[in-house]
Amino acid sequence: MNRKPFIAGNWKMNMTAESGAKLIGELKPLVKDADCDVALCVPAILIPAMTEAAKGSNIKIGAQNMHWEPKGAYTGEIDADMLKEYGVEYVIIGHSERRQYFGETDETVNKRTKAVLAAGMTPIMCIGETLTEREGGITEKVLSAQLETDLAGVEDVTKVVIAYEPVWAIGTGRTATDEQAQETIAFIRKKIGELFCPKCAEKVIIQYGGSMNAGNCKGLMAQPDIDGGLIGGASLKLDFATIVNYNK
Ligand code: 13P
Repeated sequence: MNRKPFIAGNWKMNMTAESGAKLIGELKPLVKDADCDVALCVPAILIPAMTEAAKGSNIKIGAQNMHWEPKGAYTGEIDADMLKEYGVEYVIIGHSERRQYFGETDETVNKRTKAVLAAGMTPIMCIGETLTEREGGITEKVLSAQLETDLAGVEDVTKVVIAYEPVWAIGTGRTATDEQAQETIAFIRKKIGELFCPKCAEKVIIQYGGSMNAGNCKGLMAQPDIDGGLIGGASLKLDFATIVNYNK
């Protein structure tokens, strides 16, 4: 098992060209010796400026969404070529906020995921259960259904990064315990093994996301199946560097 850890930030709808470039400038020297892959997924309009700001560093700039069609009459959407023009390698797909507020479904997550792969980029595909679902004891059922549809027709699952983000832990300060996150991510890996092959499942990078911060990252990253983090709030500050350097 030699999965390279991957810590990604999700700026969501935060930062400006000015504040973003300032933060990246400060982060660069702090994360330069990281043993993991590092990315910041920024609002689409900031991609050109943040790409420029991150130049010459190990910080990759990613996107937060992408449409499955190559071009056309889809007001407000972004296509693969637009992202690739700026060297984008990572695209968050199916974040719970998109599912909750913008009508994203497992079917559209599946289309977007396949389009990101076809364009030669890496989808960071998000799945997760709500609090009601966890308390109702149906977490595994919910995650299985998401994985089945979201990954349907994907040829090489090892090219997908999965972000397990329990909805109840996002932006709430209520993190999953190390054990809860490990147990659930181990289940996700097992399920991927069943849907594809056990060997492929061993190669898939699976991140944890949901109130991961400078204080709890060490414990989460010490879990055998947790290969990284998708960081919201803490990626807007220098704390992101502490998380990237979780093993130092
Ligand atoms: P927080 O780290 O702010 O809880 O957000 C997690 C998240 O949604 C990352 O995609």
